[in-house]
Amino acid sequence: MKKILVTGGLGYIGSHTVVELQSAGYDVVIIDNLENSTKGVKDRITTISGCPVELVVGDVNDEITIDRLFKEHDFYGVIHFAAYKAVGESVDNPIKYYKNNIGGLISLLGAMNKYGVQNLIFSSSCTVYGVAEDLPVTEHTPIKSAESPYGTTKIIGEEIIRDYAKHKEIKTVLLRYFNPVGAHPSAQIGELPNGVPSNLVPYITQTAAGIREQLVIHGNDYNTSDGTCIRDYIHVVDLAKAHVKAMAFADRMTDCVDVFNVGTGQGSTVLEVVQAFKKQCNFDLNYTIGPRRAGDVEKIFADTQKISSVLEWQAKYDINDMMYHAWMWQKTLAKK
Ligand code: WQD
Repeated sequence: MKKILVTGGLGYIGSHTVVELQSAGYDVVIIDNLENSTKGVKDRITTISGCPVELVVGDVNDEITIDRLFKEHDFYGVIHFAAYKAVGESVDNPIKYYKNNIGGLISLLGAMNKYGVQNLIFSSSCTVYGVAEDLPVTEHTPIKSAESPYGTTKIIGEEIIRDYAKHKEIKTVLLRYFNPVGAHPSAQIGELPNGVPSNLVPYITQTAAGIREQLVIHGNDYNTSDGTCIRDYIHVVDLAKAHVKAMAFADRMTDCVDVFNVGTGQGSTVLEVVQAFKKQCNFDLNYTIGPRRAGDVEKIFADTQKISSVLEWQAKYDINDMMYHAWMWQKTLAKK
């Protein structure tokens, strides 16, 4: 069995990807520092997949731990999720983000090169496009300077990988995620936001669960059908499956780096997401319209032609499925 190291594998996208990797026949080792996750996620991954998974509690920035891990295991590839991802926090504490997100990548690249591990999947983000002139965005849409230090770490991360791959035997697939939402249909795993969620969907489900008083929609005076911002929301299981396809593609890659947008190609306004939740979950959500949020782009959604033709992948779940699974997960959390 090909063995994959998944950094941040107990996290939201990481845990769903581990399940799909195991279902596809890969052997998985997780390294996670438990800053944004809990050990219980490991057992729930196994509950879903039926496969055991090795967990190393550690930090990708700790080069001694990483070296020992690569010495111990003959990895076929690495999927690198371990990074901080809260846009607002990154504005308050940019150094924390540069050190962790860039330092972790550098530590990983060094170990991959030392032990001859050639295949890397890097977790990037549509945030690299900033305010795009033309929509939908393709992989050729110009990269803009980021709206946040979080976004900057993704741009720099891509640049470091492109540069490094020119000199070292490492093949990398850069996956630019749009907005990951939802949870596994089993409701065993899902998003575990720390504190008050900054993202829309966990805020919606926590409002419905009575944890939050009211959802504030950040602005309805944008140039869109209903005045609220447009995003390309993608079900986290569809996103996880894209990583399995990307790992299989790494084997047959001719270039040393390739990049794919991972979205549905469908844009939804904030109010459309709210309506989908209300309809799907038969809930009258308490929300109000507030001022715009600094840093929000008005609209962005993906052109998915490249990933569907080259990786033979496309999203299967729609916004209704995303809302239903997010709500089932929230109800599971309430029972814990
Ligand atoms: C979506 C829309 C908000 C909360 C960020 C990162 C991106 C990725 C996903 C990591 C916007 C509106 C939100 C609320 C609201 N992160 N909203 N009320 O900002 O598109 O993307 O998270 O990979 O890289 O940039 O996601 O869910 O925060 O916002 O009205 O309480 O919902 O204004 O229009 P975003 P989001």
